[in-house]
Amino acid sequence: MDFDEVVRKRRSIRRYKDKEVPQEMIDNIMKSAFYSPSASNKRPWHFVVVEDEEKKKALAETHKYAGMAATAPVVIVVCADEEEASHWIEDASIATEHMHLKATDLGLGSCWIQVRGEEEREEHVGNVLNIPEGIRVLCLLSLGYPGEEKREHSVEEVMEDRIHREDFEG
Ligand SMILES: Cc1cc2nc3c(=O)[nH]c(=O)nc-3n(C[C@H](O)[C@H](O)[C@H](O)COP(=O)(O)O)c2cc1C
Repeated sequence: MDFDEVVRKRRSIRRYKDKEVPQEMIDNIMKSAFYSPSASNKRPWHFVVVEDEEKKKALAETHKYAGMAATAPVVIVVCADEEEASHWIEDASIATEHMHLKATDLGLGSCWIQVRGEEEREEHVGNVLNIPEGIRVLCLLSLGYPGEEKREHSVEEVMEDRIHREDFEG
């Protein structure tokens, strides 16, 4: 798939086929995360790859929009060491988007499930996965073969009036 096609086709996919994701695909998705940029090249990321049914069910309880973590064959929990990098949120966000796009490129569906922002959510994920102090959780990325079809993004979505030229009035 060429790059434009990948970015058009990337959608938030919340339903998945009951079909195992090959380990090679998971490895490729993980590699794409480590090719991300990070502030001062600090690379503060940690990822927990979860396939265990009980753990995924527990992750799905993180909040009311996290339910698909239970039915996705794989959930990647995106974390970062905040002591290593004050820009951990940006660093972990970019790594998540790399994986989101790589999943699309491989014909998989994925969805960003937010965790950071509410203490109880992070605490819940931390307890389920034994995440140590100082390691922050940004989000979960649910992954699997798509069980729903969504139209790809199109040029009508480009908000021309939000593109300012030279200064904000332009
Ligand atoms: C920071 C962030 C947090 C999100 N959190 C959730 C979430 O908790 N649950 C969910 O179902 N989707 C979540 N999404 C997915 C968005 O709802 C989705 O990207 C948006 O509706 C646009 O649809 P698209 O991804 O198919 O283009 C999140 C996306 C981002 C970027």
